[in-house]
Parts: sequence; structure tokens; C-alpha cells
Amino acid sequence: MFKSLDNKLKKSLMALGLGAAIAASGLANAGQFNIGTTATPEEIAGWDIDIRPDGMGLPEGQGTVEAGEEQYEALCATCHGLFGEGEGRWPVLAGGQDTLTEERPTKTVGSYWPYASTLYDYIRRAMPFTAPRSLSDQQVYDITAYVLYLNEIVDEDFVLTKDNLATIEMPNQDNFFVDPRPDVKNTRCMKNCADPKKLQIAGTLRGITPVGHFVEGADAPAASHDAQMEQEHNKEKVRKASLKGEEVTSSNGGGASALSESATAGQSTYDGACKVCHGSGLTGSPKIGDIDAWAGRIKQGMPVLVEHAIKGFTGDTGVMPPKGGRVDLSDKQVEDAVAYMVESSR
Ligand code: HEC
Ligand code: HEC
Repeated sequence: MFKSLDNKLKKSLMALGLGAAIAASGLANAGQFNIGTTATPEEIAGWDIDIRPDGMGLPEGQGTVEAGEEQYEALCATCHGLFGEGEGRWPVLAGGQDTLTEERPTKTVGSYWPYASTLYDYIRRAMPFTAPRSLSDQQVYDITAYVLYLNEIVDEDFVLTKDNLATIEMPNQDNFFVDPRPDVKNTRCMKNCADPKKLQIAGTLRGITPVGHFVEGADAPAASHDAQMEQEHNKEKVRKASLKGEEVTSSNGGGASALSESATAGQSTYDGACKVCHGSGLTGSPKIGDIDAWAGRIKQGMPVLVEHAIKGFTGDTGVMPPKGGRVDLSDKQVEDAVAYMVESSR
């Protein structure tokens, strides 16, 4: 098998007039192209400089906030500002806490980054911008400690070491979780499977790019593209009507006043964990507010619906993943979200 491939290759190279090259390169015997050389351990080590969240890859050493201050001011502050506030349009390195849900979040080391290891890795690899890889490991420890201090993550007398870097908890760490959307993780169906004619193929997952920015005075982007468009259309209606002096209530809020206590409590869980599918009917999920799609389901009674939502459920139209993929939710939170969905869909 290999032999015949090799012969074919030789023949085509011969046809190209490369016979001499083949003979010279030893391809005729080796069955390889003989291009390049094998990387040496030293060469691999030169490239292999990534540092993992658990600290793997960190060089020996330690650094202090105090030593970092001076170096930061000399090497970094011209661009990133004395306090990490960012000069001009250079990136901001500190602050921005509680802005992530705003329309224009300030993403910084402190407000956004999930792991301190990334900071060490990034500074060592890429900064200062004009002279990457120019800092010693020692300098990177000092400056990393100082940037953490600027973000009020460590105190001024903190000593950053190879061993404690991975234990630093970044403020936004918990907001990173494994993407819950089913992609190739669906379980295989062996019996009583869904009618394939009823399965819907949702080719793209819209809602990744918020479109609200294009509309003047937009609020925080919604969870899905469709929800966002709906939100903007409603606002536009209200705005136009108000120009004409009419009073219009946004259809988004319709029916909200009649919600039970459980449903009211469930709305935010719904928005955060369920709307990505149920807001638009993605992957065959019953769309919230679609009375026909929900009528038969509601007849099963709340206990069944809640159980399906908690444990997951494969029906005629698709796969409802356990807790919508958000295993971090409590059963009560899911139950409240179901109440919200049911009461909004009658
Ligand atoms: C000449 C201006 C300049 C200097 C000096 C500079 N940086 Fe930067 N820094 C940048 C730019 C530009 C980026 C964004 C690069 C990109 O996104 O590709 C950046 C990005 C960063 C980031 C990532 C920010 C984020 O949230 O994505 C960190 C951290 C950082 N720099 C730290 C430092 C440190 C520490 C020093 C000093 C050792 C330093 N920089 C010196 C220009 C500079
Ligand atoms: C990844 C998409 C997705 C997410 C996220 C999701 N669902 Fe579903 N859900 C579905 C699909 C698909 C169905 C329809 C399954 C069927 O009937 O074939 C469904 C059905 C349901 C049903 C009806 C079950 C029945 O017995 O008819 C409930 C209730 C439900 N989901 C609640 C939730 C709640 C609560 C959340 C958030 C915590 C959530 N879902 C998140 C996809 C999703």
C-alpha cells in the first residue's frame, strides 16, 4: 500500500523532471519528503512558553508589588497610564468592575480576565508593545504583581510566586463556564426517537453579535439576535409614537403584570439561561409566547415540565438539555424559570 503510493509519487515527480532531486534527497528510499529538520529540545523550549491556569509552565521566581511599581512606571505607563487607566486610546488595564453588562463594557485584567496566569503569560510574551520578549522572568513577576495590585486583587506588600500565582482568584472567574449550547454533544437516540421530519435544523447561532450598537440610544444587547431586533423595533415604535404625542406600551412588557411570584423570580434565570433557545425557537425549542407550541406541553402539568427542564428531555422537536446546559442552576431556579415561560405562553 505504502509502496504503491510511493511509486505514484515518484512517477509524478519524474514527470515533473525532478528525478535528480529525488535521487539526491533520498526520497526514493525513505518515502518522505526530507524537508526541514527535526526541532531540537532547545528550539521547542523557545516556543513552548505558554502558562496554564494551573500555573504549569511558570518559570522559577517571585516578584513584589513594590519592585513592580517602578518598572511599570518606566516601561508601561506611557501607554497604559500610571494607574492602568490607559493613555489616549491605549488599552485600559485596571478598573471597569461591574461594567460587563453595560452596552460598552470596560474589559480589563480586573473586570474581565478569568485567570492570573494569562497576565504573566501575556506580559512575558507580548509587552512592552514595542519590545516583546525583552523582559526577564523576574521583571515579569514584579510587573504582574503590580498590575494585580492596580486592580485591587492583591495588597501592596504582596509577593507573587511561582506557587501562589495559580491560586489568585480573579473577580470575574465564575462568569466563565463551558458553552452550554449543544453542538456535537447530543446523546444518540436508540429508541422512540424524534420524527426526523419534525426536526428543525438551525444552521447558525445568531445572537453572538449584538446588533443594538447600530441603533441610537440602544440598551444592553439582548440574549439573541431576534430578541434584540424585537427589542429595538419596540423601542422604535415607542419613540415614533412619542414624537406624534401618542402613548404606546412596549409589547415586550405585555402580560408581565399578571406574573406569579415564582414566575417573576424566574425571569432573570430565563433571560440568562433559557432565552438563547426559547427566545427564538432555536434547535426546535418551543418559543416563549407561542401559545400553540406550549398548549400541549402545559397540559402535562408543572411537575412534568419542571422535571423535563431539570433532567433534560428529548421530544418530537428536539433536545432540551438538562437545565438548559446550565448545571450550576438550582432546581428552584429552573422551576421558577419554567413558571415564567409557562405563564408567558398561555
Ligand atoms: C507602546 C505602547 C505600550 C506599552 C509601552 C505597553 N503596552 Fe501593553 N498594550 C499595548 C497595546 C497596543 C495592547 C493591545 C495589543 C493587542 O490587542 O494586540 C496592549 C495590551 C496589553 C495588555 C492586555 C490588555 C487586555 O485587556 O487585552 C496587558 C496586560 C498589557 N498590555 C500590559 C503591559 C505591560 C505590563 C507593559 C509594560 C511592561 C506594557 N503593556 C507596555 C501597548 C503598550
Ligand atoms: C440549547 C437550547 C435550549 C436551552 C438553552 C433551553 N431549552 Fe428548554 N427546550 C429546548 C428544546 C429543543 C425543547 C423541546 C424538546 C422537545 O419537545 O422536543 C425544550 C423544551 C422545554 C420545555 C418543555 C418540556 C416539555 O415537556 O414539553 C421546558 C419546560 C423547558 N424547555 C424549559 C427550559 C428552561 C427552564 C430552560 C433554562 C433553564 C431551558 N429550557 C433552556 C431547548 C433548550
